[in-house]
Amino acid sequence: MKKFLIVMVAVTAVQSIRAQNVKNLKVLSFKTKKETMDYMKKTIAPSLGVKCSYCHNVRDFPSDGNKYKEITREMILMTEWINKNTIKSLKYEPVTCWTCHQGNIYPPRYKGDKGEGDKD
Ligand code: HEC
Ligand code: HEC
Repeated sequence: MKKFLIVMVAVTAVQSIRAQNVKNLKVLSFKTKKETMDYMKKTIAPSLGVKCSYCHNVRDFPSDGNKYKEITREMILMTEWINKNTIKSLKYEPVTCWTCHQGNIYPPRYKGDKGEGDKD
């Protein structure tokens, strides 16, 4: 019994360290920092053609000080909504950030638009 309790305490301790691993996820459901960073590196940053610093204070990733982080949360929710409510019922491949952005901060609006947006 004692041994069992010690194991349980150890398991709980490890679980809470893992849970603390990501501090401020409001829309993504990743549990670990590694999973989150992989998604950021492979999907989010290349889809917009930006570095981490476009959305983050790179010394403090959980911070919400950058407005593009909040916009991105809305974009993630929008993408999930499209997939859940439209694309899935049409039996198409899911929409991703790349579908619209294609490596640009602003999705191109017309043929030949480089997708850089207004410069003012
Ligand atoms: C276009 C905006 C954007 C870019 C670029 C971006 N991130 Fe993020 N990142 C976010 C958002 C939004 C969240 C929070 C998601 C949520 O609330 O579920 C986040 C969360 C994180 C977290 C979790 C922090 C915590 O503990 O709460 C880490 C770590 C992270 N990003 C790392 C990176 C790295 C490394 C890069 C560069 C490869 C990067 N991000 C690029 C928008 C971005
Ligand atoms: C259905 C198309 C679509 C999808 C999918 C989409 N976006 Fe967007 N995104 C837009 C449009 C349109 C804008 C506004 C651009 C403009 O005003 O020209 C925008 C703007 C943004 C901006 C603000 C850029 C700025 O500097 O103001 C960020 C950041 C962003 N999107 C991130 C994402 C991320 C990350 C994903 C994937 C989770 C995503 N978007 C998926 C269409 C999309």
